[in-house]
Amino acid sequence: MTENTRADLESWFRYADELGLGPYYRDRAASKAFPLGQAAAPALSAPATSAAASPQFSAAAPRRSPLSPLPAAAPAKLMPLIQSPAGPSLFEERIENDSLERIRADIGDCTRCRLHKARTNIVFGVGNPKAELVFVGEGPGHDEDIKGEPFVGRAGKLLTQMIEAMGLERSDVYICNVVKCRPPENRLPEKDEISTCSPFLARQLTVINPKVVCCLGACAAQTLLETNQGISRFRGEWFDYRGSKLIATYHPAYLLRNPAAKGEVWKDLQKVMSVLGLQPKLRH
Ligand code: URA
Repeated sequence: MTENTRADLESWFRYADELGLGPYYRDRAASKAFPLGQAAAPALSAPATSAAASPQFSAAAPRRSPLSPLPAAAPAKLMPLIQSPAGPSLFEERIENDSLERIRADIGDCTRCRLHKARTNIVFGVGNPKAELVFVGEGPGHDEDIKGEPFVGRAGKLLTQMIEAMGLERSDVYICNVVKCRPPENRLPEKDEISTCSPFLARQLTVINPKVVCCLGACAAQTLLETNQGISRFRGEWFDYRGSKLIATYHPAYLLRNPAAKGEVWKDLQKVMSVLGLQPKLRH
C-alpha cells in the first residue's frame, strides 16, 4: 500500500469515526435484503397467463399479450442506511412460539413513541393470519385511526380494488403498516417512530411467514429492506426478506394523485400473481 493510499484510508476512517459509524459496521449484521437474481427465480419472470386483462382498479393499466413475458428488471443495488443503530438490529429478534395475539398483547396500550399522544386506536393489522400475501403500508390515516383497521379510507378502497383485481378478497391477505399509530396530519413517520414500531411488524411477518410481502410505498420498502434508496430505483424487483419474497410497489395514495402510475403497479401485482399462481378477476 502506498503512503498516499494509507493517508487517504486513515483520513476516511477518521471521518467515519467522527460520524459515529463505528457501531454501524461493528454491530450490524449484513443486510438481508438482496435482489433475487434472474437465474435464482426463473418463475418470477414468467407471464401470469391471463393476467393480461385490465384490472378493475385501473382503467389506465396497459393491455399486454398473454404470452409476452414480464419485463426482466435489472437487479437494483441497495445502499445500506447511513445511520448507526444502538446495537444489533431489532430485526434479528426471534421469539419462541410467537403469535399475532402475543404481538398485539406486547404492544399493549403503547406509549413507546410520541405517536400515541394523538391516536384514537392502535391499528395492528387485519386479515388471514396464514396469508400467502401480506401488504405493508406506511401508517394509519384518519379513517384507519378512527376504525382501528388499516387501509379503510380512499387509499384503502383502491387497495381493496387492487386485491380483488388479483382474484383475491381482502380476507385472503394480511394488511398492516410500519407504524401502528396515526402520524399527526398524515405526516411521514419519523425515523425513531419507525425504529420503535417496526420490530412489531418484523414479528408479524415472521409469524405469518407469507410467500410474498408487497410493500406499498417507500416507507415500508425502505424499512424492510433497510435502505434509503428511492423506491423508483427498485420497485418491481424481487428481494429476499427472511425467506419471503419481497416486492415494492407504489402506495395506493400515490396512485390517487398519479393515476398514470397504475399500469406500473399492475405489472408489479402481476408478478406477485405469477408467484402465487393467481388468475386475475376479469371484468364482466
Ligand atoms: N395508508 C397507509 O399507509 N396505511 C393505511 O393503513 C392507510 C393509508
